[in-house]
Amino acid sequence: MPGHFITFEGGEGAGKSTQIVRLKAFLESFGKSVIVTREPGGSPGAEKIRSMLLSGGAKDLGPRGEAMLFAAARADHVDVTIKPALERGDWVLCDRYADSTRVYQGEAGVDQDYLKLLETAAIAGLHPDMTILIDVPPEIGLSRVAKRSESDESGGPDRFEDEAVAVHERRRKLFLQLALEEAYRFTIVDGSRDEDFTEQAVRKAVLEAFSGDLVDMGKLSQRSEVHL
Ligand SMILES: Nc1ncnc2c1ncn2[C@@H]1O[C@H](COP(=O)(O)OP(=O)(O)OP(=O)(O)O)[C@@H](O)[C@H]1O
Ligand SMILES: [Mg+2]
Repeated sequence: MPGHFITFEGGEGAGKSTQIVRLKAFLESFGKSVIVTREPGGSPGAEKIRSMLLSGGAKDLGPRGEAMLFAAARADHVDVTIKPALERGDWVLCDRYADSTRVYQGEAGVDQDYLKLLETAAIAGLHPDMTILIDVPPEIGLSRVAKRSESDESGGPDRFEDEAVAVHERRRKLFLQLALEEAYRFTIVDGSRDEDFTEQAVRKAVLEAFSGDLVDMGKLSQRSEVHL
């Protein structure tokens, strides 16, 4: 497919949403067309499922049923939003994707083979070209989230934020393990420093991974002027 698909993963408050906005602007400075999307959600159908999942309304289904809802949302998101954008040649920056299901539902005890089946069905072959894992200790991430909820209208923690630190700690380990197992597509970025530091690390990783696609048009035209 002509586009580029980058996913961001990591725990609550790692800085995923913050860095996605910054990376979008960076890619646009190269003249790229960029869309930002998120999971669960990212398409009208999937957003309906999102509100059920994050309000806890689907908790009664149990972890297996809940995983199915995540898969249903992902299938719609892939078909309606991600795939058409990649076919157009856009850069797609996605805030959480299949790795979050592996980690969150995996940590909740859902069988790995079952999760793999759901993932295969949901993504229909659409694997990310690159996954940026922003890694932070849960205490740092959670304290940022607590501060964020004081200042925004989100009305307190969602179903996945309101959990014991030990659970967040296990998820962090699972993300890191996954990043090592699939190192060919993962970059781990230290999210515990300030936003600018993380941004530089993200930029460096993206420039390395897609160097051929990210030619600085300004520099290129200056260079050709010199040659003329
Ligand atoms: N490196 C950083 N240092 C300090 N604060 C940060 C940093 N990155 C983000 N923040 C702030 O911390 C809060 C959480 O960041 P952000 O929303 O980007 O995290 P997230 O990974 O998207 O979290 P969630 O999983 O809850 O969506 C925000 O208020 C943001 O402004
Ligand atoms: Mg976010």
